[in-house]
Amino acid sequence: MAIRNIIKEGDPMLNKVCRPVEKFDGRLAQLIDDMAETMKEANGVGLAAPQVGVLRRVVVIDVGDDHGLIELVNPEIVEHSGEQECVEGCLSSPGQYGITKRPAKVKVRGFSRSGEPVEVDGEELLATACCHEIDHLNGILFKTHVLRMLDPDEVGGK
Ligand code: NI
Repeated sequence: MAIRNIIKEGDPMLNKVCRPVEKFDGRLAQLIDDMAETMKEANGVGLAAPQVGVLRRVVVIDVGDDHGLIELVNPEIVEHSGEQECVEGCLSSPGQYGITKRPAKVKVRGFSRSGEPVEVDGEELLATACCHEIDHLNGILFKTHVLRMLDPDEVGGK
């Protein structure tokens, strides 16, 4: 496994629509392992492949709940309900946080690294993370959804 460089906001790579994964091979497994390690090292709760310069539909999420590490290939939000206000940030925009509105619950379908179907039901932070990371695959950054950016002194320990 290896830590990969996280691309920062302003790089046009982050505005591209990513292509679906077609080959569930060792290269995909390597990408997912590297993304998980990179996310962990950066203390993130999610990371999308374009953030490490790979324009493919792959995300990793770990919000620290009992889902553990979630790996999703070609993920789609198939159901969403309710609404929540979130404090959201992004590893590509270090130190910046804003208030967003997202669905309170989502159902996501995708595939594992070996091509098995995976379904995730997410609420609260996990719902936000699913929306945020899948947005990345469509070239959308969280600031698109921000109602108000937070001042650094409002962010506290984050
Ligand atoms: Ni992000």
